[in-house]
Amino acid sequence: MVQQVAKESVGTKGNHKRTTIFTYTHTKRTDIEEDIRSLQLDSAEENNGVVNPGDARPEEVEVVDKMEEDSEEVQAVSQPVHPEPKVKHKEVSAVEDAESQQETEGNNKRHLNVVFIGHVDAGKSTTGGQILFLSGQVDDRTIQKYEKEAKDKSRESWYMAYIMDTNEEERIKGKTVEVGRAHFETETTRFTILDAPGHKSYVPNMISGASQADIGVLVISARKGEFETGFEKGGQTREHVMLAKTLGVTKLLLVVNKMDDHTVNWSKERYDEIESKMTPFLKASGYNVKKDVQFLPISGLMGLNMKTRVDKSLCPWWNGPCLFEALDRIEITPRDPNGPFRMPIIDKFKDMGTVVMGKVESGSVREGDSLLVMPNKAQVKVLAIYCDDNRVRHAGPGENLRIRLSGIEEEDILSGFVLSSVAKPVAAVTEFIAQLQILELLDNAIFTAGYKAVLHIHAVVEECEIVELLHQIDLKTKKPMKKKVLFVKNGAIVVCRIQVNNSICTEKFADFAQLGRFTLRTEGKTVAVGKVTELPTFESQGSRICWENMCLPVRARTSSLGCGTGLKVPPTVGALLRIPRG
Ligand code: GTP
Ligand code: MG
Repeated sequence: MVQQVAKESVGTKGNHKRTTIFTYTHTKRTDIEEDIRSLQLDSAEENNGVVNPGDARPEEVEVVDKMEEDSEEVQAVSQPVHPEPKVKHKEVSAVEDAESQQETEGNNKRHLNVVFIGHVDAGKSTTGGQILFLSGQVDDRTIQKYEKEAKDKSRESWYMAYIMDTNEEERIKGKTVEVGRAHFETETTRFTILDAPGHKSYVPNMISGASQADIGVLVISARKGEFETGFEKGGQTREHVMLAKTLGVTKLLLVVNKMDDHTVNWSKERYDEIESKMTPFLKASGYNVKKDVQFLPISGLMGLNMKTRVDKSLCPWWNGPCLFEALDRIEITPRDPNGPFRMPIIDKFKDMGTVVMGKVESGSVREGDSLLVMPNKAQVKVLAIYCDDNRVRHAGPGENLRIRLSGIEEEDILSGFVLSSVAKPVAAVTEFIAQLQILELLDNAIFTAGYKAVLHIHAVVEECEIVELLHQIDLKTKKPMKKKVLFVKNGAIVVCRIQVNNSICTEKFADFAQLGRFTLRTEGKTVAVGKVTELPTFESQGSRICWENMCLPVRARTSSLGCGTGLKVPPTVGALLRIPRG
């Protein structure tokens, strides 16, 4: 018996594109961590979700090539494969028969999505697998089978990770590639585990996992040398923390793992060292360490301090909770079940109709509801709702769902589309204004109008272009600077106008943080984080596009959404000329 672990990853279309970078100067690479606090868009206390950079990281250009290759390989083993998916979803082990699922009215326990993040080999999959084992979802026989399989692959200690790493490729390499998804329950809470890959080649998949999560388990290896590698320049610990904060992971459990390792041996000194080094970094990344972060020691491989507290004979100094207790105690801000319905679509497939998958970010859904698929405004009807493995009649915010729809073909949907309320549909735009924090540009390039990058916003992965820098924010006063800004460098905060070729669904950060926060990535590196501050008041009305206090002429350009609806995206804006409104 093994719980079915679903797999998903960001595909190759659109997300790993090389973009034209405006590289002008090669200024000296500076260590920017010192400046982190002053560079913040929002303070940790304000907790507004936009975060700060870590140290300069080495280039990852070579890795991009590998990433593209790897992604192709992943595509080859993934099934079912959609014609041109951005996000692939893979069901492993017994194929689920939706119709044989029990019809239930759901479960009254609260539901939380937990993403496991951290540097490669920190023990995320092992800990995730151990959780499933300890919660009785994987039996001894399956574990024995995995032990043998791991041994045959000369990866003896990897057997626990095999519960989450279900791809052959993942098992051979000993690395998670696609986000593994599984479920378990405690006394009070139903959890969806999202096991993200740690390798830097798969950061887009990690982003996709983190964007669905409410809380994060940041796994840090205490093994000698491993904490250091993960935390230093280029280690994924820093990038994952920064991305998690930006993507709306409001609470973190920081598990110091591999405490059983012979280089650690449940040493209090090692644990304290890691806690003291991580704390300032987490603060600088926007987390309120007292309120939002809980540290605890575990051994994912041995299953210690996980379901029950670690034995005092092994770890006399630990008086805190075990992992299950800590997960149970996490409080998150309640979501509004009566808000306008929003579910970004992360995947879709055909199964007696069109089935879409995603996490409900706002509102509730019932069987029989009429909804819109945005941005193509397709009217659809909800035929069935599946939550975990159960069919339910209704579901509220925070739930990860599969919804069967009528009124739309599967090929007319792309990941990043949003299932939305009819009365208050989500905004669909080709342009928006955002406040950006520049982290680290490739080769310390300067950031100016014309800069292109890949935009990651909820489930959207889309190439974008900065069309105008509006003003720079003074780092000290946090107010807009008067001087006209033509370019900025690493560490700057700038308000700019951003354009995408295809219409995307987004919201102002202030209205819907989850749909209004984003990252910009270039050549496999996160170069900026941002939040949407303004949306056009209307698009392509006549020959102008209007904002709260300006109207701009529209450059006649249309591009197909490529979703088979024949719908044309509204023309986008090119010129920078301002003309008075009205
Ligand atoms: P990626 O998916 O590649 O990012 O790695 P991961 O973080 O999922 O690590 P994984 O669970 O695959 O474990 C990597 C290695 O660390 C394996 O050899 C595990 O057996 C080992 N490991 C994980 N947790 C522990 C632990 O608590 N103690 C010890 N001694 N080894 C561990
Ligand atoms: Mg893993």
